[in-house]
Amino acid sequence: MRRAVFIILCFCLLSFGCQKKEDLIKIGIAGPMTGDQAKIGMDFKNGVLLAVEEWNNKGGVLGKKIEMITSDDQHDPKQAVSVANKMVNDGVVGVIGHFNSSCSIPASDVYNRAVIPMITPASTNPQLTKKGYENVFRVCGRDDQQGRVASDFVINYLKLKEVAILHDKTTYGQGLADEFKKFISDKVKVVYYGGIVQGDKDFKMVLTAIKNKNPKLIFFGGIYPEAGLLVREAREIGLDAKFMSGDGTIDPKFIEIAGTLAAEGTYVTFSPDPKNIPSAKGFIDKYRSRYGEIGPYSIYAYDAANIMLTAIKEAKSIEGKSIIDMLHSIEFNGALGKIRFDSKGDVTVAPYVVWITKGGKFEEYWKP
Ligand code: ALA
Repeated sequence: MRRAVFIILCFCLLSFGCQKKEDLIKIGIAGPMTGDQAKIGMDFKNGVLLAVEEWNNKGGVLGKKIEMITSDDQHDPKQAVSVANKMVNDGVVGVIGHFNSSCSIPASDVYNRAVIPMITPASTNPQLTKKGYENVFRVCGRDDQQGRVASDFVINYLKLKEVAILHDKTTYGQGLADEFKKFISDKVKVVYYGGIVQGDKDFKMVLTAIKNKNPKLIFFGGIYPEAGLLVREAREIGLDAKFMSGDGTIDPKFIEIAGTLAAEGTYVTFSPDPKNIPSAKGFIDKYRSRYGEIGPYSIYAYDAANIMLTAIKEAKSIEGKSIIDMLHSIEFNGALGKIRFDSKGDVTVAPYVVWITKGGKFEEYWKP
């Protein structure tokens, strides 16, 4: 008798642990999960995980539990294509990702061929939604919008006359630097324009060349590991021009790498502080109690996952085309407020503001 009970118990435990494949709906999440940008990958993952857990606690979607397939693209375009193919083969019905535009753009070809919707929480390069792919969406703004706000700030608020522009030669970094240059060139002299290599650690040579041109501000298109080093090394060689960057830099790691003193007074463009958005409060409290302080893109990943799952629910289908059509028509009330996509997959509203670093923290500073 005891033996029979034991066997039944084992069977029940096994069936619970190994839910049958057809009982699961798979959602992919892709970003830099290891390496120097892993902090942002973890922010993404935690945001999506929170959303998925909330859905699963309420029974999942279409009566099935949701399984998250997490992929590490290492912010490498080739790796992004490879993990995109793997996720498609694994049967994901939608993807939240990627982080870097240089990964989202080539990976979008894979999802497009497979008719699978992707929503990126963070890829801001305009090219992503210019390809005419119906399956591509983003919940963040674009670098033409962000570059314009940065240039407005430099021209109309700081009233500077000479700037240097640097980028990390990636799709995002160079793209943002070029948008900034395009908007600023009429009014401000660009005394230096050039690229650095992502992953390099010593930028003193390029910083010395910039110092010799005596700019009043350095604008950098790139991500926080290089931005932090640039600021630290600039101060070390006595280059005290103001420093400004974009959304790829607004992470506490930037301040940690630069050092609190060197980072003081640096500017970044990003969307407004979610702490001032009433609908974000519930998410922020839950995230904090679970993972600590929210990362800049955690809330975007959370909303992206919730929109994807809502579209599946409303479409009553896991078929790619039905989910994509639903994403185009849905108006979603998320933690960030109302989100709607236009026909290209961009959000209809994408405000950018300027933040400043003060006492080792970022705070909202200027609105256009
Ligand atoms: N906004 C950055 C990009 O598009 C993260 O790559």
